[in-house]
Formats: sequence, C-alpha cells, structure tokens
Amino acid sequence: MTTTPLPPAGADRDAALLAASEAGAPAARADLEALVRVPSVSADPARAGDVARSAEAVADLLRACGVPEVGVHTAAGGAPAVVARRPAPAGRPTVLLYAHHDVQPTGDARDWTSEPFTPTERDGRLFGRGTADDKAGVVAHAHALRTLLPLWGEDGGVGVTVFVEGEEEVGSPTFGAFLAEHGEDLAADVIVVADSANWRVGVPAITTTLRGLVDCEVRVDVLSHAVHSGVNGGPVLDALTCLARLLATLHDEAGDVAVAGLVTGTAAAGVEVAEDVFRADAGVLDGVRLAGTGSLADRLWARPALSVLGVDAPAVAAASNTLLPSASAKLSLRLAPGQDPAAAAAALRRHLLEHAPFGARVTVTDGEAGRPFRADTGSPAHEVARRAFARAFGVGTGDVVEAGMGGSIPFVADLAERYPGAAILVTGVEDPDSRAHGADESLHLADFARVCAGEVLLLDGLAQLPAGGAGAVERAGASPA
Ligand code: BES
Ligand code: MN
Repeated sequence: MTTTPLPPAGADRDAALLAASEAGAPAARADLEALVRVPSVSADPARAGDVARSAEAVADLLRACGVPEVGVHTAAGGAPAVVARRPAPAGRPTVLLYAHHDVQPTGDARDWTSEPFTPTERDGRLFGRGTADDKAGVVAHAHALRTLLPLWGEDGGVGVTVFVEGEEEVGSPTFGAFLAEHGEDLAADVIVVADSANWRVGVPAITTTLRGLVDCEVRVDVLSHAVHSGVNGGPVLDALTCLARLLATLHDEAGDVAVAGLVTGTAAAGVEVAEDVFRADAGVLDGVRLAGTGSLADRLWARPALSVLGVDAPAVAAASNTLLPSASAKLSLRLAPGQDPAAAAAALRRHLLEHAPFGARVTVTDGEAGRPFRADTGSPAHEVARRAFARAFGVGTGDVVEAGMGGSIPFVADLAERYPGAAILVTGVEDPDSRAHGADESLHLADFARVCAGEVLLLDGLAQLPAGGAGAVERAGASPA
C-alpha cells in the first residue's frame, strides 16, 4: 500500500487516486465474491442465520478496511445492520455511506444458468444473487475507505459513517425504530445511497427520483365450497374468472392505470428513454405493444404502474373440473414522486371493492408501503459527484445522466425527512442488464471498477468542502415525497 503523500487537489491527485483504486480492484472483486456466497435472503425466515452471518462478514470487511468503530445492530427484532464510523477530522464534513447486504429470493434455481450463490464470471459480468443489488454497493464503500484511509492519514479526508442495512428488500420495516435508537449516529452532511443504477454500461447516472410503492392482496369469494363445473357452470362465474375480470379493470384501454385519484407527473425535461433501447433492455417480445400514454420516461419514473405479482389458484397440473370458490392475487402499485402511499393504498382498495364483478365478495389486505423520493441535485456535493463519476468513467461532466428511476428505496424519504440539511446522492452499480430480483442477476465488472473509482474521487472531493457546507444549500427543490 502506497504511503506517498497525495498531491493537492487537481489532476495529479485524481490520477494518484485512480491508480490507487485500480490497485485495489482485485481485492474488491474478491470481497464481493465472498459476500455473494452468503445467501442473505431477508424475506426467508429460514435464512435469518445467513442474514446474521452476512452482517458479520460486512463488519469484518469494514474492520479490515481500517474503519475504526464497527458494530452490528438490530432494532425492534429486525434484521442486523452494520454501522461503522470514522469520526470527522476537525472542520471536515461527515458522509453517510448506505448500502444493503440483504438480497431478494432466488426464485426457481433452475432458471439460473449458474448457481445463484456461487459467483460466476461470464462475458465480463459476475453472475449471482446480490452481485449488483446490492453487495457491489457494500463493497464500493469498503473499497473507497480501504483506498483512502491510509492516504488521508489521521487528519485528512472526511468523517464517514457506513450504514449497511439487512432488510431493504423487505421494505426496511424496523428502520424507523433504528433511527429512533441510532439516529444521532447516522447524522451527516452528505448521504450516499449506493443502491440504484447507472444509465448504460460505461455511462454513469445520478438518480433524481425514485418511485414509491404499495402492495396488497386481493381475494375474491363466490361460493361456500367447490362444486362440479359441469353441473353448476353457467349461472355462476368461478372465482378465478371473477378475479381476472376484476384485475382487468385496473388498466384502461390504452394500458394506463385506471385507479382514480393517483398522482401522475411528468419526468424532468432533458432525458428521454428510446423505445428500441427500452424494449431490448427489458426483453419485450417482438409484436408486444408498449402500454400507457406519455413519454417512456414519464411512464417509467413519474407515473404509477400496477402489476400482478402472483395468483393463488390451483396449478394447471392439479386442476380438476370444479368451480373455484375463491382466488387471490398479490398486486404491486408503484407510486409517482409526490404520491402519499396511504392515499394510494386507499384509492386502490376503493377501486377493487367498487369493481367487484357480479357481486363477488372482494377482500383487500394491505401490505408494504414505501414513499417515493425526489432529490435536490443542486448541492455542492452533487457537483463533486458529477465530476468524480465523469472522471472515473472517462466521460464529460455533462455526460453524467441525471435520471429518474422506476425502482423504490423507501427509507430514502425517511432519511431526507430526518436530516433535512443533508445532500442525498443516489448512486449505484446496476446497469440495464443487471436483472436485479430476477434469475441470472449480474454485475458488469468494468463498470464496478469505475463505480469504485468514482466513489474514491467522490469522498476525496467531498473532503475539500467545508463541514456544514457540503449539504444542500438550497432546500427549496427537495422534498421527502
Ligand atoms: N436497488 C433496488 C431499487 C432500485 C433499483 C432503484 C434500480 C433504482 C434503480 C432496491 O433494492 C429494491 O429493489 N427495492 C425494492 C423495494 C421494496 C422491497 C420495498 C423494490 O423496488 O422493489
Ligand atoms: Mn437494492
């Protein structure tokens, strides 16, 4: 590890930092593989031990990176989170680095080309559950600190708090309790949330908006018990048919969400999503027409989206000639920035109850709710981030895309509310082909190295800003919703 003093801020310093980052890239890759081998599926109670092991592995990694104070904490019986601190040298800002170490379930392991928890490289990508979402975010933070702490020395650099959550993928249920207990420890001038996506491979992005979401389960009952479908079929529609008719009311003819009363916005001008690019990235089959109205950016980032995630009904192989008495579906409604989740859940419930086909009994059970987020991108910290990622990706500062994202990171709105003076930078490691949550999730390895380098330059650049002055100066454009 080099001990040569860093040149003062400028091109030489950036070059020295990029070289140091590159030297640490193999270690970052190895750290990532080790974390991916731990199946930290937060939604699966049987994996609670693995989630705990994952938290310990993250804590060990941060200790090995030289972060002085490292602890594992749980609040209100939630999943273990790692909090690590390096106090700020006098007069320097404090930066909170966020990522999550839990992952989504794998789904059917047969849909994967290689084992989900065995990191495997193919064509410049590392495959495995959590490679992109979000263990690469965890490692980017660790890598930046391992690179910078020895170069900074005792008095240099910024104060850092690393917060690596273990329950993001289940909607951060105990985050409120965690903030109540440890809120003081997380206070910062700048918050870096490394859990979003870049624009394309080789093109960095800073996320400007995130959608919120509400889930619910809808159940339809039509008969007190199953009966012969020939003897009774005709005058009574089975529960699955009724459920299908109910679900069909959720979108209008154009494919826009038909639930009344939801917030619908427009995406910020300047960034468009090309239809052919979107179709290719999402894998939309030839001949399938895109749904909804408005630009693609509007539809993806600034409007609600409603999907059916699952249905409880007999599998085809187990089906018999009976009229089904009941059927259920799980619905997921993504929310536009500015939408209150409780109001959206109420609107969806009202729609489902009012559209009950043939008087079928409809029961709605609310699930998760998470707020959307809109960032203020005018802070000095955002300017530092644009320069850092441009330099690390080898593109112009103006080529760093400021884009909305359709995904949700609900606790970001809570952070914005709790620390109104902090600048919130939403960065990330995913690219449009990362397939987070799906089979064959993967991370583009060259982009990973660029993100790691970008974070090194970002943290070092933030050290040049004064404490208290790194956060958003103008808060007028920011809102937690
Ligand atoms: N990292 C994602 C969200 C994301 C992905 C934002 C790409 C922007 C671009 C995050 O881990 C996630 O998947 N969140 C869940 C939230 C839910 C479980 C409450 C989501 O969006 O489904
Ligand atoms: Mn994530």
